[in-house]
Amino acid sequence: RRKIAILTSGGDAPGMNAAVRAVVRAAITRGCDAYAVHEGYQGLVDGGDMIRKMNWDDVQGYLTTGGTVIGTARCKAFRERSGRLQAAKNMVKEGIDALIVCGGDGSLTGADLFRSEWPSLLVELVENEEITQDDADEYAHLNIVGLVGSIDNDMSSTDITIGAVTCLHRICECIDSISSTASSHSRAFVVEVMGRHCGWLALMAGIATGADFIFIPERPPWGEDWQDRMCAEIKKHRDLGKRKTIVIVCEGAIDSNLEPITAKGLMDLLTDRLHLDTRMTILGHVQRGGKPCAFDRNLATMQGIEAVEAVLSSSPDIPSPMIGMNENKITRTELMEAVALTGEVAKAISRKDFVGAMDLRDPAFNQ
Ligand code: F6P
Repeated sequence: RRKIAILTSGGDAPGMNAAVRAVVRAAITRGCDAYAVHEGYQGLVDGGDMIRKMNWDDVQGYLTTGGTVIGTARCKAFRERSGRLQAAKNMVKEGIDALIVCGGDGSLTGADLFRSEWPSLLVELVENEEITQDDADEYAHLNIVGLVGSIDNDMSSTDITIGAVTCLHRICECIDSISSTASSHSRAFVVEVMGRHCGWLALMAGIATGADFIFIPERPPWGEDWQDRMCAEIKKHRDLGKRKTIVIVCEGAIDSNLEPITAKGLMDLLTDRLHLDTRMTILGHVQRGGKPCAFDRNLATMQGIEAVEAVLSSSPDIPSPMIGMNENKITRTELMEAVALTGEVAKAISRKDFVGAMDLRDPAFNQ
């Protein structure tokens, strides 16, 4: 009888509970035992009561609840081999040989490292007489499956991550509210949204709310005179009779010299140059909490079921599958390939090879 554990790791994302529910119920339906590891990797390292067997009813209400009920953490101990050794011991003690991790790229990288080290961890545990050779033989193979839970939608090889759409809805609701007060007072607002080094939330919210200007890390404003051009554009909108100005800035936005573009800097710019009565709103964690939207509930449910299927039909071709969604289909790809491709984007940005930075209005591009 297979014993499959699920944990949530890194920043929480709406829909993580739906993923836990789907994994637990799919595992039970397929004749397996399901376990929840509490507090992310920390629960694996600590073991004991942190690893709990789950029954069908234990996940009642999970579908619609925000955050992650089983807890999450950014665990330092698991980054050390000694922590992973402890985690391996606890898994063998519980008889768990498959681990489904729902988290962002850092959490999923940790999962793949754990899988690749697994044989050597078992050897060390036998040498330390913490497990028997029979245990090591019985649990020689560890299945790891990744589910991408992140509001940032910053993982390569999947079109969308669990939580991103809910977060986008929340941002739009907030900006709609800001817009009405902005119009009343004829004010400008600079709204900072999350996303780390990924501008998906800012870009999508900008389109969905008809913002005047957006700033994202992947495509910094070109040229030294971008402030002049932004002010000219916003003045044009005002001259056309617009009573409000909305500028959205991703928290990781940078200029073409890799200097941060901040909400405060933009607010000062609009105040000083255009004499607009400007306010700044940093949306913060209100974007991340709360109930998942229908899309995230369904995405997490379909992907949770697929994760259990991936455990049961594991193949050496894809040792650590990551469950994604591409062109509206649930997909399995190699986790480490997706993590490596994600890293390439970050590297390109730090080398100033900006992704998609081909602005047709850029004079340099037209030469
Ligand atoms: O990765 C999700 C995310 O919400 C990012 O958008 C943000 O930069 C970060 O986590 C915030 O982390 P914390 O909750 O630790 O402040």
